[in-house]
Amino acid sequence: MPKFICRKPGPKSVKIIERDEKVISPSLTREYSFVFKKAKGCHVWDVDNRKYLDFAAGVAVMNIGHTNHVIEKALRKQIKIASHVGFSDFYAELPVEFVEYLMTFLPKHLDKAFLSNSGTEAIEAAYKLARWHTKKKWVVAFKPSFHGRTMGSLSLTNARPVQKERFGPFLPVKHAVYPYCYRCPFGNKEHDTCANLYLDVLEKKMKECKGDLAAVFMEPVAGEPGYIVPPKDFVKGVRELCDKYDALLCDDEVQAGCYRTGKFLAIENFDVKPDIVSLSKAIGGGVPMGVTVANGRIMDWMAGSHANTMGGNLLACAAGIATLKFMREKKLGKNATEIGNYMMERLEEMKDNYEIIGDVRGIGLMIGVEIVKDKKSKKYGVNERSDILCRAGEKGLLMLPAGTSAIRICPPLILTKGQADIGLDIFEDSIREVG
Ligand SMILES: Cc1ncc(COP(=O)(O)O)c(C=O)c1O
Repeated sequence: MPKFICRKPGPKSVKIIERDEKVISPSLTREYSFVFKKAKGCHVWDVDNRKYLDFAAGVAVMNIGHTNHVIEKALRKQIKIASHVGFSDFYAELPVEFVEYLMTFLPKHLDKAFLSNSGTEAIEAAYKLARWHTKKKWVVAFKPSFHGRTMGSLSLTNARPVQKERFGPFLPVKHAVYPYCYRCPFGNKEHDTCANLYLDVLEKKMKECKGDLAAVFMEPVAGEPGYIVPPKDFVKGVRELCDKYDALLCDDEVQAGCYRTGKFLAIENFDVKPDIVSLSKAIGGGVPMGVTVANGRIMDWMAGSHANTMGGNLLACAAGIATLKFMREKKLGKNATEIGNYMMERLEEMKDNYEIIGDVRGIGLMIGVEIVKDKKSKKYGVNERSDILCRAGEKGLLMLPAGTSAIRICPPLILTKGQADIGLDIFEDSIREVG
């Protein structure tokens, strides 16, 4: 009999979980005993036909909403023509069209792209490109951070020990401290004045590389570690230090990109220009896709130095174009900002009313709520967080954890105010019951 997370699910779910346990790798982190059946817009259903409002969006992937008709249309059309071309070896128009169109969403200097299939691959490409272009060895990333799980990106990742245990040795990466202002390791109480403390650590790490530093990798909003928003001065300071030490600034937009924070790139909220950008998750509208973009002066690697089989896959590119068009036509960035601001206001009110809400932070529809035992001690409310997630799930709201005791709110960006209220009501009921 499998161990169920939250309450035992319905009979069909139980059967599938039993089969899953026999054949699927046990390394996956399952957050619920939720067995997915179908989805539409901002809702998902399990195999026992229970309906949930989706504040998880398949881990920040379904920004345009589930089973969006534009994806169905694009895939139906393309699959009749061809699915795959082997883009590393042959030319094709669709990947070029996808990249040309993507560039209309990006800062002008980002004018060359490498296509892949996932977030970790988009990071691997950025890492290898930084080392190729600079001919340097070291990279600085942050703790906490999450950049993926293949060996290059895992070397950058520094979030939960279980993710790295037994997998070393890693590539030459030093870790500076990411500004987690709610739990400032320097004991600083003022959110706005802490940037320099973190920048000092970063500069120290950069100096330790003794002129052999290729790049700094940064999430503009830290995703898996708890939806942590750094101060604006910090992100600007990272750019200045990269210029000072002649290092590339590699911007991991895998989770925060594609209008999740209102801007197409989350780093635009900080008025900072990155050198290399990695995108994935939402960019394919649910079809696997990764993209690494840079200026042509930087993306100067020679033929054969980096390639893959499935990058530029025609179905992924067709879905990518449809996704981007939908995002622009429906002004999803604007909606993310408006609904996100509204949700933040309500969550801030909840924070005033409930002792177990320690922190509410976020930009657009990338919102983190940190659960604590009590406001004064700030002790991580790990069990309380699990309890809230289970109770919310039972009431029909799907959410995911992030970091040690935060809950992330990352719904499809088509979420309406009415849906936001329904979700927040369930969230508040669950908080009240647990708190
Ligand atoms: C910021 C960030 N970078 C990279 C990744 C890795 O992406 P993938 O799981 O597609 O390999 C993730 C995944 O959650 C992420 O959040």
